[in-house]
Amino acid sequence: MSTLNAGHLDVCDLPAIMRTNYELTRMMGALKVSKEILKPHLEIQGQRSLSGEINISGAKNSALVLMTASLLTREALVIRNVPKLTDVEGMSNILLAMGVRLDRKLDEIEIQADKIQHIELPYELVHGLRASFFCIGPLLGRLGRARIPLPGGCRIGARPVVEHIRGLKALGAIVNVEHGVVTASVPGSQRRLKGADVILDCPSVGATETILMASVLAEGVSTIENAAQEPEVQDLAKMLNSMGARITGAGGPKITIEGVDELHGCEYKVMPDRIEAGTFLIAAAITRSIIRVSPVIPEHLSAVLQKLRDCGCSLQIENEAINLIPGQITGVDITTQPFPGFPTDLQAPFMALLATANGTSVVTEKIYENRLQHVAELQRMGASIRVQGNTALIEGVPELSAAPIKGSDLRSAAAMVLASLAARGTSKLEGLNHLDRGYEEIEVKLNKLGACIRRN
Ligand code: EPZ
Repeated sequence: MSTLNAGHLDVCDLPAIMRTNYELTRMMGALKVSKEILKPHLEIQGQRSLSGEINISGAKNSALVLMTASLLTREALVIRNVPKLTDVEGMSNILLAMGVRLDRKLDEIEIQADKIQHIELPYELVHGLRASFFCIGPLLGRLGRARIPLPGGCRIGARPVVEHIRGLKALGAIVNVEHGVVTASVPGSQRRLKGADVILDCPSVGATETILMASVLAEGVSTIENAAQEPEVQDLAKMLNSMGARITGAGGPKITIEGVDELHGCEYKVMPDRIEAGTFLIAAAITRSIIRVSPVIPEHLSAVLQKLRDCGCSLQIENEAINLIPGQITGVDITTQPFPGFPTDLQAPFMALLATANGTSVVTEKIYENRLQHVAELQRMGASIRVQGNTALIEGVPELSAAPIKGSDLRSAAAMVLASLAARGTSKLEGLNHLDRGYEEIEVKLNKLGACIRRN
């Protein structure tokens, strides 16, 4: 075997076993690199101005809960304007696994729950989709029992369901939580839940919707005080009433539900997605472009529109459309609140805008305990942000620079798309599994406005 000359190691000088090892390591390394390259990602060219009109899809956070409301009747439900999202696919699979009939044609879903075979939702289908927990109310209200895995926390927070359970117990249900599964049932003697007055500790959207759906078939009258006032709650109440429910006060702090014996089917159109609309308005502002967003219900976005004006944009509001004309963007302070306050789901996208504003901004996240993860990614692009607890202090910079970045949850991924649209150079964004949960063909919609985004 030849001697190894000092300083230069030639692989063929290595003993055979080490040679194989070396080759293996090289191959593994190459494999790892190619896996990295193969990870689905968006390539986003920055600093292109946009123009034109962007079409807003149906609201994810309405469509998901409306789909579960189909469990309240034996009759068919036709839900229109349902967005093409992975979360909607996930919810469809859960309903199908329960034995529900479900047909999707374009943006329309027909659902009929006349033969529910399983009231226990399989963990592998529900663990990634918090909205799966919305099934507990209708199953309990209609069948008198349900077994739903606890929806785990997620990156943005613990996301407990204490309020949901408190409300179900107030309606007379027996609810146990063990081994990560919530088992709920109507006590043997009773056939139906009993109307009750519930005062929520916090205006939880999910708890309000769960209690609404559990109480529509209860015996007697129920009230929910400190109810969530989000438009998605109003959309649900509107559809339940068109199914024969008797709900008043939805959208306000106190909702009254008069229980009925049964609900019938209906046809219903999902409202436009206010969070998607807000995201694209911010896209216009951050690229200093004039764009039109439609359909949108302006009063669903009042707090966001006010902040867009405060930071220098002007807005032309029409019946179901909004035109944004950007000005010199200056810093503003934002604190997220329950509706009608500034929505937590637009905190990350708006922070991307403030990172490029002229001046200082303070953003405080009051809804979730861990929803500032996009800060680190924005800093990689040159943003000047300091975090103290749940508050971020942002010093706007003249320009962000493109970088390889990741979205760690749905809305932080959206924020990184916006930051990339404004940055100098071409960014590579990973985390499309998060992005595709809540934005239907986001790169297709933005490319129609003149963006240059490639999905690889
Ligand atoms: C809905 O989640 C939305 N999801 C969220 O959108 C949205 O951020 C949230 O409402 C607030 O608007 C869907 O509708 C599917 P919550 P939900 O119960 O119902 C605390 C997105 O990006 N809380 O109002 O889970 C909770 O920890 C997603 O589209 C309790 O303390 O929200 C959180 O801090 C993210 N105890 C706050 O309330 C409870 O029992 C808001 O939660 C329940 C909630």
